[in-house]
Amino acid sequence: MGTFLAVRPSPHTEGQVRGVLAVSSNKGGVGKTTLSTNLAIYLRALREDLPVAVVGLDDQKVIDRMFALRELHPGDANLKHGWAQRSLDSVLQLGEYGIHFVPSPPDVSLLKMRAENPLTLRTILEHTRWDGIFVLDTKSDLEALTRNAWHAADRILVPVADRSSLEEAGKLFSLLERGRLPLDRARVVLTLADRRSRAGALPLVHELSEEIRRRGWPRYDTELSRSPRVESLNSGGGRPLSILHHARGTAVHGEMRELAREVLRDLQALGDGRLGREPDVLWGRRLDRVDRPQRLTGAVGGKAHESRRRS
Ligand SMILES: Nc1ncnc2c1ncn2[C@@H]1O[C@H](COP(=O)(O)OP(=O)(O)O)[C@@H](O)[C@H]1O
Ligand SMILES: [Mg+2]
Repeated sequence: MGTFLAVRPSPHTEGQVRGVLAVSSNKGGVGKTTLSTNLAIYLRALREDLPVAVVGLDDQKVIDRMFALRELHPGDANLKHGWAQRSLDSVLQLGEYGIHFVPSPPDVSLLKMRAENPLTLRTILEHTRWDGIFVLDTKSDLEALTRNAWHAADRILVPVADRSSLEEAGKLFSLLERGRLPLDRARVVLTLADRRSRAGALPLVHELSEEIRRRGWPRYDTELSRSPRVESLNSGGGRPLSILHHARGTAVHGEMRELAREVLRDLQALGDGRLGREPDVLWGRRLDRVDRPQRLTGAVGGKAHESRRRS
């Protein structure tokens, strides 16, 4: 397809890539959904052979509206069914731009009640036959479903757009620490960067960069600019449009492509080192006392799937 030619695969991105990316920030409006959906599209455009699936853990139907090829009905299998079946095999749908997605459940709060064990989603993804990338878009909270996303993820992308989202990122990092998750699993991404906006003598993005460096948080180098064109892609209540296909004259287009390359290189470098053993104690609770999903201890669970995933 002509539009894909704009994003030439770079020589660094060849080879098999698998992985789970979560996008998480407690702050709303920092660009999580824009980043998740568009990153999925750019990853797919860079590597046309790479299956990419987006899973939304939010109440909003943005992902459905963006990717669904036909009108979704209440009877369509959605994330709730996948959660119950401990696999997304029967709920993944092929959508626009060649991206797969899982239709959102009617009510995320019901799902949240079945997400007390933070390893549930990880188990579900391990049981899903998917030889590619998952992108998990989370709600603007640090609660059960979001923690499930952190545990399922090889990388947690943490958008930071301003000082308050930087402080929220701080909460996320300290929760990771309390949950004994490696802080290195997370990567800050500067979003909505407005180089004209100043913090004293320095542009705000420089100030934020400096603060991130001072706190020692891992980050991706690519910064995503604020763009009125990108903002307009989501307005109007219709189908949200992709940056790749509808904002190609903007700086964000080049930045998204660069970020997607950075993420691919990163996942590739992780290789077999992806998802080490999770800790036994999470947020003060011993995991063996948390109700395990049924199939985790069954014949298809645990080690067999770990090795399948690594192979
Ligand atoms: N690079 C950008 N430039 C301008 N507006 C953006 C950009 N990225 C996202 N937005 C807009 O910011 C708002 C919040 O984005 P969204 O992705 O929904 O954030 P979140 O999922 O974190 O709540 C949306 O209106 C979106 O269109
Ligand atoms: Mg969102």
